[in-house]
Amino acid sequence: MIERHIRSIDDLGRSGIEEILTLSDHFHEVSTRRIPKVPALRGKTIALLFYEDSTRTRLSFETASKRLSADSLNFSIGSSSVKKGESLRDTVETISAMGVDAIVVRHGSAGVPWLLPRWTDAAVINAGDGSHEHPTQALLDCYTIRNKLGELDGKRITIVGDIRHSRVARSNVKAFLSLGASVTLVAPKTLMPFNTDDWGVETTDQFDSVIGDSDVLYMLRMQLERQQKSFVPSLREYAKEYGLSNSRAQSMKPESLIMHPGPMNRGVEVSSNIKEHPNSVVNDQVANGVIIRMSALYYLLGAGNVTKLEGFSDE
Ligand code: NCD
Repeated sequence: MIERHIRSIDDLGRSGIEEILTLSDHFHEVSTRRIPKVPALRGKTIALLFYEDSTRTRLSFETASKRLSADSLNFSIGSSSVKKGESLRDTVETISAMGVDAIVVRHGSAGVPWLLPRWTDAAVINAGDGSHEHPTQALLDCYTIRNKLGELDGKRITIVGDIRHSRVARSNVKAFLSLGASVTLVAPKTLMPFNTDDWGVETTDQFDSVIGDSDVLYMLRMQLERQQKSFVPSLREYAKEYGLSNSRAQSMKPESLIMHPGPMNRGVEVSSNIKEHPNSVVNDQVANGVIIRMSALYYLLGAGNVTKLEGFSDE
């Protein structure tokens, strides 16, 4: 039974994650075609409701909608009635009245994707709610790792940085663990969530002690916009202890991956040229973002299974 929403990795579970990864193999093939477009969601309408800034996530959902032949409504806060004080509820009800099949929402407050189904029948995809979850980022990260290193089962994944404010970390921990990887979180104590006892992960504040054992080093951005006070003595000090410098990267295993969800603070959590490092898969993450979002939309709005996808030809 398919859940109607993707608000959290919990809405998918292991089987849902695997189904989306399998769909992505098909959509990857579509993306290599001369015309990388299929009629899978023709007639469907997808609203993008972004209350927070975004480059990658928004553009990739938009591209994914177009490649599935869906219509997309792009709701931009800066030029909308939100500026005139319209409430979230009124905005959602207005969009819904126009007849949308899915709403992709990003919002600064945790929990917003769970409110939307009270006001709309559309399927909801969480594109980031506060510091809470960002499930499609986790899916594209799982897909990237699987494509580069094989199944996640038994892999050691280290997530480094501002875990406390990171929705990416929360969704990724759930997704990585459910596919059988082990996860270590690395952060200074001030940037570690208060209680990770029931997360099922290891934690440490010693980055250097885990680099050589990791199959993936997943670097997080310092979320300065979510930090109400200073959590580190200085960004320079942070970079020295927790930044992935070129010399730190030398202690990685030869085949290990360097990942980052973007946007990157070059010179803070990663050295200025780490994106160009041979083990970096940051650009693959972006490319896979489009494919994964095609799969997520198709999973919710399409025929719902892979077999129906076969036979789709070029338009
Ligand atoms: C992340 C986000 O917005 O949560 N970026 C993204 O979606 N690519 C991570 C971040 O902003 O650091």
